[in-house]
Amino acid sequence: MANPTSALSIRGLYVDRGAQPILHGLNLQLTGGRLAVLGRNGAGKSTLCLAIMGMLPVRSGSITLDGVELAGKPPHDIAAAGITLVPQGRRVFPSLTVDEHLRLMEGRRPGPWNAARVYRELPRLAERKTNYGNQLSGGEKQMLALGRALMTNPRLIVLDEPSEGLSPLIVEHLLQLIAECHREGTSILLVEQNMRAGLTAAAEVALMSGGVVSHTVSSETLQSDENLQHQYLGIATH
Ligand SMILES: Nc1ncnc2c1ncn2[C@@H]1O[C@H](COP(=O)(O)OP(=O)(O)O)[C@@H](O)[C@H]1O
Ligand SMILES: [Mg+2]
Repeated sequence: MANPTSALSIRGLYVDRGAQPILHGLNLQLTGGRLAVLGRNGAGKSTLCLAIMGMLPVRSGSITLDGVELAGKPPHDIAAAGITLVPQGRRVFPSLTVDEHLRLMEGRRPGPWNAARVYRELPRLAERKTNYGNQLSGGEKQMLALGRALMTNPRLIVLDEPSEGLSPLIVEHLLQLIAECHREGTSILLVEQNMRAGLTAAAEVALMSGGVVSHTVSSETLQSDENLQHQYLGIATH
């Protein structure tokens, strides 16, 4: 049986980049195990992801995982609490092999994921085991970024625009694997500009613009409301 998923609660989050305020009192609740965050370019989605991971300082506000306060903690403490980030642009090391990327993450937290399982679920990575990061296609890099994240046996996985630049077939495969993780009890925060990927991944969608979450709606509501799509995703309505 699946474990219960972890709850992420963010309240009144203010984050700056340099001297510029970017997040302005953002609130977000992930209680059902899966939430998509959708918003246009520049809405502050990546800033949110980096702040959750402790990679940008929090000016004020609260970020809790299962009630434990994480705001202000360094990234290694947040990783130890069970949060992992699949960053935008994959961030694969050019001069490490696929296998070295996975082994780097080995043994961080106990759980069902290890290199053998990553290779079983993502067989393309097994074929590319000894290839270097700079020899991989975009899809392979994204598989590696996800596989590396799963190696940490996260309680919450934060994915920043995983579908960016990938073919629909590869996106589908990755979303299936993410759904499997959710069934096993991992919470999922999926950040996207791509509405289709967001809707496939979660029943609930937080719509972000100007550094705040303005609305949280069901995926059905977003799918049927062209005004919301236009306002938050810039999808043409005609
Ligand atoms: N390193 C940075 N320094 C200063 N401002 C930044 C930096 N990175 C992003 N920003 C600004 O922060 C805002 C939000 O960016 P970001 O969080 O990347 O949005 P999104 O991921 O939704 O596209 C944008 O206005 C962007 O110009
Ligand atoms: Mg971004």
